[in-house]
Amino acid sequence: MAQKGFTLWFTGLSGSGKTALAEMVYDELKQKRGLKVEKLDGDVVRTNLSKGLGFSREDRDINIRRIGFVCNLLTRNDVIAIASAISPYRSVRDENRALIGSDKFVEVYCEVPIEVAVERDVKGLYKKALSGEIKNFTGISDPYEAPLNPEVHINSGSEAIEESFAKIITYLEERGLIKPLGESGYSEEEEEAISAHLEALGYL
Ligand SMILES: Nc1ncnc2c1ncn2[C@@H]1O[C@H](COP(=O)(O)OP(=O)(O)OP(=O)(O)O)[C@@H](O)[C@H]1O
Ligand SMILES: [Mg+2]
Repeated sequence: MAQKGFTLWFTGLSGSGKTALAEMVYDELKQKRGLKVEKLDGDVVRTNLSKGLGFSREDRDINIRRIGFVCNLLTRNDVIAIASAISPYRSVRDENRALIGSDKFVEVYCEVPIEVAVERDVKGLYKKALSGEIKNFTGISDPYEAPLNPEVHINSGSEAIEESFAKIITYLEERGLIKPLGESGYSEEEEEAISAHLEALGYL
């Protein structure tokens, strides 16, 4: 079975675990399963593709549309695209879903209680947002519109990260977007390569 392209779209407040989970899924699909995967993280995109954009609604929408545009190019060429940006507005997330196709778009809502995100304050930004040093901060002084029907719903305040990761992988396998690993723990391709090798050595 050839690899199918799809977009895995993480959305959620800052500190909800988008990047942490995106990295884990990326490593699993690329390293362990040998799939073609690309990631587009909000922080990285804002230093190149969207450099110069700010945090007004208009700029946020442009940023998310750009990420969606690239995800679509990758997806239609059967690469798995993993996007991890706050993407606070439902309408532009849905625009990307329509562009890419609902059958190839998997929205992962990383939900976290705002108190937990503030407590984590991974980047020290909540402190600045609460003191007013940073304006238009999602969840504090800017809106976040939660998905109404996400394909995967993570509760990063109460789940262990391994549990959240497993939810995503299981969903992708059950939906037929990636192949489950065989009982050996090797992918089909790896099993074939091992068999060919053993055969060449005269063991099979
Ligand atoms: N179940 C979980 N899922 C994801 N992350 C978790 C979970 N439990 C704890 N965490 C921790 O929460 C933190 C989330 O930080 P992370 O940088 O991934 O957030 P983010 O959503 O990418 O934020 P930002 O929008 O600012 O980039 C990490 O330190 C991660 O280890
Ligand atoms: Mg992040």
